[in-house]
Amino acid sequence: MLAGKRVLLGITGGIAAYKIPEFIRLLKAAGAEVRVVCTPQALEFVTPLTLSVLSENPVVHSLYNSHSGEWINHVNLALWADVLVLAPLTANSLSALVQGKSENAVLLTALCSRCPVVLVPAMDHDMWIHGSTQNNVLKAKEMGYEVVEPEQGSLASGLIGKGRMPEPASLLQYLSFFKRLNPWWKGKRILISSGGTREALDPIRFISNQSTGKMGVALAEAAFSNGAQVTLIRTKGSKSPTFQGIHCIEVETALDMQATITRLANQQDVIAMAAAVADYRAKKPAEQKIKKSTGGFPAFHWVENPDILKELASINRPYFLLGFALESKTSIEQAKLKFQRKGVDALALNSLENPGAGFELDTNKMTLITSDSTLELELKSKSEIAVEILNFVAECKIKSR
Ligand code: CTP
Repeated sequence: MLAGKRVLLGITGGIAAYKIPEFIRLLKAAGAEVRVVCTPQALEFVTPLTLSVLSENPVVHSLYNSHSGEWINHVNLALWADVLVLAPLTANSLSALVQGKSENAVLLTALCSRCPVVLVPAMDHDMWIHGSTQNNVLKAKEMGYEVVEPEQGSLASGLIGKGRMPEPASLLQYLSFFKRLNPWWKGKRILISSGGTREALDPIRFISNQSTGKMGVALAEAAFSNGAQVTLIRTKGSKSPTFQGIHCIEVETALDMQATITRLANQQDVIAMAAAVADYRAKKPAEQKIKKSTGGFPAFHWVENPDILKELASINRPYFLLGFALESKTSIEQAKLKFQRKGVDALALNSLENPGAGFELDTNKMTLITSDSTLELELKSKSEIAVEILNFVAECKIKSR
């Protein structure tokens, strides 16, 4: 996603600047080109040498070279960037930015930029919730800046509250900015199920399946980073998302999942059932651990679990319903039958037959089926596939208006 992208970092004078060298390291590891511009105050927290060694580029921190008098061309620097990330952005620099001030190299570069600009404000809790800061955030959003909200946690002041800059790994995820979704998603509510349910055999053992939850998390992160309100119903042991703003609910069994989804379903614009739900559960799991015995492992009587997807489809519903189908053998015809049987609005089919598609992999190959279309997607990373699926859903919704 970031390979070959030109990321310009603007650092201002906040304690969270100490996290930026690690952020640069992650950006470089992801294949991005990185340049750094910073305010004189930022250099109180992090050295230009560290920043230039890691970014492999000189660091710009003044408006001109004080020895030679040479002017530093901030316009070219701004035009070079595919994205400008201002992190950490202090309350003071945020205020100066929305007022159009240009008193330092960071502000000047931001004013010249034509690329998307991501603001990462970080400050003390009370400064963050202050009316003037919130006003500035609002104005910044109106001006088209992307704002990454600070996180809750312990702050440099010793207080606990909202104001922390997200960790570098989370910041990297926010640059999924490059995989922008259809603006239809902004403010929409989506519920995603992910992972494989676990059905108990005794207090220690369960049956489950190989689902890791990666596809569900990729959908959740793409939707969230494009302004959707995301609830992720994930099974115990499956992958968790990086973003704190994704509302996660952990469940274990198919019955737990059904109860949770049913409670939240009517508040959703879209429901995506990416979870691998066990079709059967043991009717009577053993109350105590089953001990090894000569008679072998006991036989269980199995009862069928509810088909959550089919039930969600069978009622008069406000939400768009996206089902997933995993087949060990690709058959579009069978998938079309499953689409009809389930009564969904769209079905995403993946087949274990496709090399590069499967549970633990980071790539996938899918076919999207609706009542009047079949769209085959290329083999891509799960995060890119997530974007294509969500854009497909947005187009279906826009078409049906
Ligand atoms: N699903 C569900 N409840 C179940 C089983 C499946 O909600 N008890 C959902 C899955 O989350 C997925 C879709 O139904 O979105 C298809 O799941 P899949 O396992 O492919 O199909 P099954 O209904 O189990 O049918 P089969 O086993 O015959 O392929």
